[in-house]
Amino acid sequence: MADNSSASSQVPPELNTNVPQTARIWNYWLGGKDNFPVDRQVGDQILQAFPAIVENARASRAFLARAVRYLAGEAGIRQFLDIGTGLPTANNTHQVAQAVAPECRIVYVDNDPIVLTHARALLTSSPEGATDYIDADLRDPDKILQQAARTLDLTQPIAIMLMGILGHIADDDEAQSIVKRLLSGVPAGSYLTMNDGTDTSEEVVEAARIWNQSANPTYHLRSPDRIARFFDGLELVEPGVVSPPRWHPEPSASGLPAEIDSACGVGRKP
Ligand SMILES: C[S@@+](CC[C@H](N)C(=O)[O-])C[C@H]1O[C@@H](n2cnc3c(N)ncnc32)[C@H](O)[C@@H]1O
Repeated sequence: MADNSSASSQVPPELNTNVPQTARIWNYWLGGKDNFPVDRQVGDQILQAFPAIVENARASRAFLARAVRYLAGEAGIRQFLDIGTGLPTANNTHQVAQAVAPECRIVYVDNDPIVLTHARALLTSSPEGATDYIDADLRDPDKILQQAARTLDLTQPIAIMLMGILGHIADDDEAQSIVKRLLSGVPAGSYLTMNDGTDTSEEVVEAARIWNQSANPTYHLRSPDRIARFFDGLELVEPGVVSPPRWHPEPSASGLPAEIDSACGVGRKP
């Protein structure tokens, strides 16, 4: 963690520490310290029903790093809009992108007050590039685009990243319209990168049921086909929409990596 202090030692008044929150539970599974007993309680309940959740969280972060490396490297992208950032952890988007090209500019967006509290750990840009943080809701894409324009040039290609967030929008039509609005605000040559949980095992379906009983906001698994539809109209980067460990696996990995209950992809706006 970029910030080593424990969450309970610095609780801002707007934080609701009685309701388990997605960013903090995710942080718990990733081995972070920025979570509260309520988060750990639900996190443990889900772990019991779905022990693969920790591997799932790590594999999802590993996909984020490989996708950003691809975008900043092969695809030549220099601007990133990472919505649903989560708490700072290892390999945050700006660190991965700026390790490839220090001039990359990254805007982070989240609506959880605890992420805002830790945002300074995300604002550690290389001198050649820039980072910014916007406290906003994905349901307000116009505000996100407007405020992103402080840091990003919206006339130049941007990689929009929706990692583990669209599942928080239950309705497919609403989620589709948010994605379309975001993509309409960026030029051809921009990318959509996303990753979300799939309803591909009984264990993960049970985990989502437990989550939705108590955690905030609720999370809705989709089938891989429903996730693939978010890329309609885009040119999918090979190998298309797949389970995260199978998207550009590290060359050192032996054989085909095992799938997890998630689907991810990277698509280019033509
Ligand atoms: C499961 S975490 C994923 C974090 C990170 N993207 C990753 O892949 O490791 C989901 C994040 O989305 C944020 N989030 C959920 N709903 C949101 C919304 N409507 N607007 C903005 N952020 C939201 C949560 O606060 C949380 O930080």
